[in-house]
Amino acid sequence: MNGRKVNIHTLAKKKAAGEKITMLTAYDATFAHLLDEAGIDVLLVGDSLGMVVQGHANTLPVTLDDILYHSRAVARRSQRAQVVGDMPFMSYQASLEEGLRAAGRLVKEGGAEAVKLEGGAEHAELARRLVRAGIPVMGHIGLTPQSVHQLGGFKVQGRGQDAAERLIEDARTLAEAGCYAIVLEAIPAELARRITEAVPVPTIGIGAGPHCDGQVLVIYDLLGMDETFRPTFVKRYENLGVRIRTAVEEYVHEVKGGMFPGPEHCFEDKPKERATEPAPYSAAGRRYF
Ligand code: KIV
Repeated sequence: MNGRKVNIHTLAKKKAAGEKITMLTAYDATFAHLLDEAGIDVLLVGDSLGMVVQGHANTLPVTLDDILYHSRAVARRSQRAQVVGDMPFMSYQASLEEGLRAAGRLVKEGGAEAVKLEGGAEHAELARRLVRAGIPVMGHIGLTPQSVHQLGGFKVQGRGQDAAERLIEDARTLAEAGCYAIVLEAIPAELARRITEAVPVPTIGIGAGPHCDGQVLVIYDLLGMDETFRPTFVKRYENLGVRIRTAVEEYVHEVKGGMFPGPEHCFEDKPKERATEPAPYSAAGRRYF
């Protein structure tokens, strides 16, 4: 582990010191371990899993049980990064009571160390109650994908003076309610700068320009898993979609051609004499034969 566990105070200190915060989504143990080792501060078990893992057109079908399942996997292998569980659509919109119970399950059963919820002032009371119950809350304003039908699509938000002022007010209200950080999604860079200066808590941007206190991306987008998905706000650091397809095509070719498995992949009648016994388990706990 490189460093101590990140918590809400670590992130507050980073904002005060002008040190950028890094956040990525993670949905399973293997990715959680890799991203954690790479030094990511926050791992978000985002409801974006509904799109990139489950194949839905939006995040609306994701259930609390889905987030719980993935959150447990991520929490098991993140040693340093803070794990944030996303509150899925309709797990908190119906009542304060439902929101409190859903967030409680994410922490108690999912191993989350904080929860994220979409929306502005309308959810300030829930944020206040959660914080009072000891659950750190990350806000999320701008493009809030759970309201995709209300917004009329995945569109940039906060354009024009009235819309911009409303978002600044939402951010202030969420910070006053006790949110320890706020995600700003798909808003003009200049507005993100104004919000970042207006609130005492870190802002974490996605499609919100460089002035936020931190940045978040969906890990599959950063890695270029889907060649057809090329939004302006994503920088691809890899082309894994192409590389995975090429690797699998090679595997298909080698299996069909009898090149795999080769002699080095086969067991013999008698075990080989070895100077030292190999460790029976990998770091991830997978058993070797
Ligand atoms: O669900 C998600 O992945 C998110 C991030 C894009 C902020 O909410």
